[in-house]
Amino acid sequence: MEDLKKTIETIMARDRTVGASEDPFRDDVCPHCSGRGFVVGPDDVAVRCSCMDIQHIKNQMKSARLSRELAKCRLDDFDFSYYRDKSEKKRPDQEKGSPKEGEHVLNARKAWQAARDFVDGVVKDPHHIGLMYSGQAGSGKTYLAAAIANELIRLDKSVLFVVVPDLLDEMRATFDRKDVSEFDLLDMAKTVPILVFDDLGAHNYTDWTVNRIYSILNYRVNEQLPLIVTTNLHHGDIACHLGERTSSRLLQMCRSFKLSTPQDIRWQQYTAREKK
Ligand SMILES: Nc1ncnc2c1ncn2[C@@H]1O[C@H](COP(=O)(O)OP(=O)(O)OP(=O)(O)O)[C@@H](O)[C@H]1O
Ligand SMILES: [Mg+2]
Ligand SMILES: [Zn+2]
Repeated sequence: MEDLKKTIETIMARDRTVGASEDPFRDDVCPHCSGRGFVVGPDDVAVRCSCMDIQHIKNQMKSARLSRELAKCRLDDFDFSYYRDKSEKKRPDQEKGSPKEGEHVLNARKAWQAARDFVDGVVKDPHHIGLMYSGQAGSGKTYLAAAIANELIRLDKSVLFVVVPDLLDEMRATFDRKDVSEFDLLDMAKTVPILVFDDLGAHNYTDWTVNRIYSILNYRVNEQLPLIVTTNLHHGDIACHLGERTSSRLLQMCRSFKLSTPQDIRWQQYTAREKK
């Protein structure tokens, strides 16, 4: 494991020096082996080029179903300044020089630390307890879930990133088609070592989709397979939309963290962009 981590770090460092993009979906021809996959080493022996390891990670990202945007999210790039309330004044009891940590920042720190601990924990124990991130739109829930997935892919773990509304669409699309098995994605969601369920929200669930989601969670709870969930619903609302048996299982499988911001991060990014 350590070896793989080192290889990846070396490759990333090398790619930065040769000017390759950080975009994991970009398919540049390798400047070292011109795409052959091997280079001629000392003693004229062909050795596997390190770009093959990058290719492996790219393939893992594709099979994890991470979008181009989400493949870029990194725990180390998580920006806490979005959680700082710029209008807040220092409290009089605060020590000189110590920055004010508002509630949003404290929540974000806890959520980030939980993500870090999850990554470290699941590497040691494949049955590690999962996480649930809740909060308003644009508070960084999906960012954290994707950053966890990316860290784990780089550690060669199998992850599946399921956007719940897309899953519902796919389930509907396969419902009345005989040529596509409705169970492929569901089976994958049940059995994949680490599952991310992004945006478990107030969608149009039918009895049929509610049952399918229940069966994924029930399988995973029984097999103690970790789950990361993002949602903008409160726990009680999850019970309303998906039933108490599902919401109760989420409590069992996940530690729960709330994310909040003074303003939607998308709005903060928009105003920063348009101010330029
Ligand atoms: N801490 C962060 N550091 C850097 N960028 C962030 C951070 N949090 C969120 N972003 C960026 O802000 C945008 C919104 O974040 P994200 O998609 O995670 O929100 P969300 O809480 O999942 O919202 P929604 O409920 O609408 O799905 C994205 O472009 C994301 O990359
Ligand atoms: Mg989201
Ligand atoms: Zn190469």
